[in-house]
Amino acid sequence: MLQETLRQQLIAMKDVTVLSDPDDMAAHLVDWRRRHFGTAELVVFPGTVQAVSDVLKLCNARGIRVFPQGGNTSVCGGSVPDAAGGAIVLNLARMNRIRAVDADDESMIVDAGCILANVQAAADAEGCLFPMSLGAEGSCQIGGNIATNAGGTGVVRYGNMRELVLGLEVVTADGRIFDGIRTLRKNNTGVDLKQVFIGSEGTLGIITGAALKLFAKPRSFTTAMLAVRDLESALRIGRTLRRGLSGEVSALELLSGSQVDIVRRHGHAKPPMDTPAPWYLVVEISGAAEEQSYRDTLETLLGPELETEAVVDAIIASNERQRGEIWGMRHNVTECNVKEGMGLTHDIALPLARIRDFVEAVEPLIAEALPGACPVVVGHVGDGNLHYIVMMSHEAFADVPDQDGLRQKIGHIVYDAAIALGGTFSAEHGIGSLHTGDMLRYKRSEELEMMQSLKSAFDPRGILNPGRVLPEWTGKEAPHG
Ligand code: FAD
Ligand code: LAC
Ligand code: ZN
Repeated sequence: MLQETLRQQLIAMKDVTVLSDPDDMAAHLVDWRRRHFGTAELVVFPGTVQAVSDVLKLCNARGIRVFPQGGNTSVCGGSVPDAAGGAIVLNLARMNRIRAVDADDESMIVDAGCILANVQAAADAEGCLFPMSLGAEGSCQIGGNIATNAGGTGVVRYGNMRELVLGLEVVTADGRIFDGIRTLRKNNTGVDLKQVFIGSEGTLGIITGAALKLFAKPRSFTTAMLAVRDLESALRIGRTLRRGLSGEVSALELLSGSQVDIVRRHGHAKPPMDTPAPWYLVVEISGAAEEQSYRDTLETLLGPELETEAVVDAIIASNERQRGEIWGMRHNVTECNVKEGMGLTHDIALPLARIRDFVEAVEPLIAEALPGACPVVVGHVGDGNLHYIVMMSHEAFADVPDQDGLRQKIGHIVYDAAIALGGTFSAEHGIGSLHTGDMLRYKRSEELEMMQSLKSAFDPRGILNPGRVLPEWTGKEAPHG
């Protein structure tokens, strides 16, 4: 329990609002998929950078653990506190101001609590594109995207969140404010500190603001859904499109037939195509040319694949409504998977040339380990990033005596296979609390020690997001020393 005086100090702080009623706090103590539950004494909403600093100074001085939270859309248990008690959640939702959009500078400056969709809309209103896009964009915050170095569907063209950040404002555990808001494209003046905070999942500092990179809004978008005969063909078509369209492929997504069937069953956005197929691709091409010109190029590149029936059906969206249907289907997958059953989800990345090897290697191993489970694949194949999901019915999962043991066993099968092929066990979702054990299993001890040194430098008392990314740091000894 927080001492009553401390509670009162937090509640009385300038530009800080606080929830303390258990019913009001409930939504902040469980994740979106309802897989991770925690407790907190208070949920604290600072309204200014100074307020964040004041809260952290107090918490650091008293050793109160702080769990940063954005839109609470994490899928790896990063966004809710643990169950140990005596902690606060620090949610950035009140810091939601678009500070500036400068089309000439191709940049914008935003508070960290801005919802991603609002950032996209503010850029669009000035004739610019902010290209980060993902299924949770109506709820996730830009600060959460930066803290997790989020990926999404635009990475193949525009890069991860890291590549879209020009400058950052961060408050460290002791309340120091790092004002790194700059829109410069080049600035070699010592260590680029913002890079340390991007992707550190709130373990090194609270992101309060960011300068973001904007792009020219494409003149046209050409979006297609292809039903494909086999994985080899899907991967070949991806390569052909990337080579034939140079840098103008702005999305290249892969879905297994099992994934599209799940959306057919549960989706509020039904797939715009009924043709059954083992694999589907979603492709988007955008740039300065007229839509007809991209459509012609796409048809030319796909011609031979249609002729040999490697592509068994294709829809090229001819208006914004059809484009919306294709993206609605793609972005609806996670919601549909939650309705379908218990998906043991894995977020792996592989060298592009090893994707087929991975799928072929893992499928029989999963069939043997968990007969009856259905492999579901959805992913950003243009980046080599697959969400390999082992789907069970809710009833079958409920009957599993050791659910954590099963998750771990399946995880090791999937991750061992990915790593043997030069891949990684976490591509875009991050580590959160779910994968700290995998950090110990798969990362080299030298890397863990270096990360631990950074943690000690920025958060020596270990108050920020304890037990996320690295196992909990008590300040007494390094766990991998
Ligand atoms: P939260 O979930 O609240 O927090 C995530 C982590 O960041 C936590 O560790 C938290 O402590 C920390 N954090 C949050 N805000 C701050 C801050 N201001 N300062 C410091 N630390 C902070 N992810 C992808 O990468 N690509 C996808 O395609 C994708 N699709 C998704 C689709 C759906 C339907 C859902 C539910 C999730 C998806 N995700 C995806 C995962 C999730 O949306 C991302 O990880 C997102 O970046 C999290 O943002 P958030 O604001 O919700 O952060
Ligand atoms: C997606 C999320 C799960 O790609 O990352 O839909
Ligand atoms: Zn994804």
